Amino acid sequence: MQSAAASPLLQTFAITKTYPGVTALDGVDFELRSGEVHVLFGENGAGKSTLISILAGANQPSAGQIFYRGAPVTLHSVHDARDLGISAVFQEFSLIPQMTVEENLFLGAEHTRGGFVDRARIRREALSILDELGFALRPEQRVDRLTRAEQQMVEIAKAFRSELSVLILDEPTASLTSYETDHLFELIGQLTKRGVGIVYITHRMAEIRRIGDRITVLRDGRYIDTVEARSASEDDLVRLMTGRVIGGVFPTLDLPKPGAPVLEVRGLTTSDETVVDASVTVSAGEIVGMAGLVGSGKSELLQACFGAVPIASGSVRLKGQDVTGNSPRRNIRAGFLYLPADRRNEGLMMMRSVRENVALTALDILPFSNGHLLHRSAEAATVTALAEKLHLSPPRIERSVDQFSGGNQQKVMLARSLTRAYDLIVFDEPTVGVDVGTRASIYEFIVELARTGTAIILISSDLPEILNLTTRAYVFYRGRVQTELQADHLTEENVLAHFFERETA
Ligand SMILES: Nc1ncnc2c1ncn2[C@@H]1O[C@H](COP(=O)(O)OP(=O)(O)OP(=O)(O)O)[C@@H](O)[C@H]1O
Ligand SMILES: [Mg+2]
Repeated sequence: MQSAAASPLLQTFAITKTYPGVTALDGVDFELRSGEVHVLFGENGAGKSTLISILAGANQPSAGQIFYRGAPVTLHSVHDARDLGISAVFQEFSLIPQMTVEENLFLGAEHTRGGFVDRARIRREALSILDELGFALRPEQRVDRLTRAEQQMVEIAKAFRSELSVLILDEPTASLTSYETDHLFELIGQLTKRGVGIVYITHRMAEIRRIGDRITVLRDGRYIDTVEARSASEDDLVRLMTGRVIGGVFPTLDLPKPGAPVLEVRGLTTSDETVVDASVTVSAGEIVGMAGLVGSGKSELLQACFGAVPIASGSVRLKGQDVTGNSPRRNIRAGFLYLPADRRNEGLMMMRSVRENVALTALDILPFSNGHLLHRSAEAATVTALAEKLHLSPPRIERSVDQFSGGNQQKVMLARSLTRAYDLIVFDEPTVGVDVGTRASIYEFIVELARTGTAIILISSDLPEILNLTTRAYVFYRGRVQTELQADHLTEENVLAHFFERETA
């Protein structure tokens, strides 16, 4: 018999999870060794998040067995899992917005002294966790005042409040800056040295290369293979994931000459000074990149133009008309759409159907409505066609959005830009959490829009995306436009040089 020390840290046998009409997992075997980073890889909807929610006790399997250090266990709740040292950071956050960072950190595990919550101890331990992780957060900050990246840090910090044996991370770097990502990876290195096993979900090849030891590939809820990260090529992984060979991810950029200016921003400063004195111009049929770190002001500038962030000074013109300070609703009617990165907080109504969510931006626009009367069938037909175009999986538009996988929720957001013609569409991090195959169709689709004369702005922290999909880019640093890079000058070296520049100048 195997000794406990030689058994894997965590193991599953034939885990199955069914929802009405969907088999999310179908007899999946998985093995996590102590001290390894084990990557879960697969298309949107493959079952990755479902598997880890079962490993973390948040979800119960319909059939199958979990073993912890060689012994069978049943995890009725996340508390059961945490008692074994298994902690997870999920794709969708579980923070209470009205509470502070420290209250969230110790929620359900408050230290008490003589029947009272021991605030001093909570503060002390919160500070020490945040310090160990190198996260620049204050324990007394309210969570709803934090950015998405900061909220993610709180989620990660939560996993560290007790002794860890298994840490599960579902696309943790999706909204972290490269500095924060480096820090997280350093931390993962320290944990694996101590024998902690890491289950890591990502769609990013570079991350797999950097920290992965082994990779398990899932497809349509089934186990496909487990391979060594060192020896598996990118092509191998994509083939295992999709069951087919996929050509280049980026389409060729054969765009006609740009037309008239659609968006003209002059000297814009936001009230909170997240953007200072920014001037940009975008013309019809162009794809213009906005590059820079998270928090550099690139998102905030377009949110301000759209009417979602107050403007202190400067002007915004849309097709020659002054639209400075106009509401998002007016801007949408005028042909300007901004698609946010944060689908849960800003974008989607999670309890409503795909159809309703997609139709939302188009409610007072034909063919969806005629005064007060909504054309239900026209709406359904349009949304069905869009779902097909973006490979929504499963393709059921009457299902509520919260029943779709993370990447498929992202597709629902994107489908909104297709319900009618716009003059200007801003895509804010459109491919975060989206698998390789779908990414290719999203890029294709963006280029197609530009070809028909739509002015496109692509806000992205992903450098390859900026380099391959835009003809011109502005690089932001600390709220200011550092530089504008044209065609030949749009190189990795040049963009990176302006990411951090002029700290001392
Ligand atoms: N609560 C639910 N009700 C019904 N179906 C669900 C529910 N949660 C997940 N599913 C389905 O289970 C399947 C697997 O979803 P899961 O979230 O595990 O995918 P994933 O691999 O994490 O994808 P992504 O990369 O997009 O995050 C999907 O088809 C999804 O629609
Ligand atoms: Mg997922």
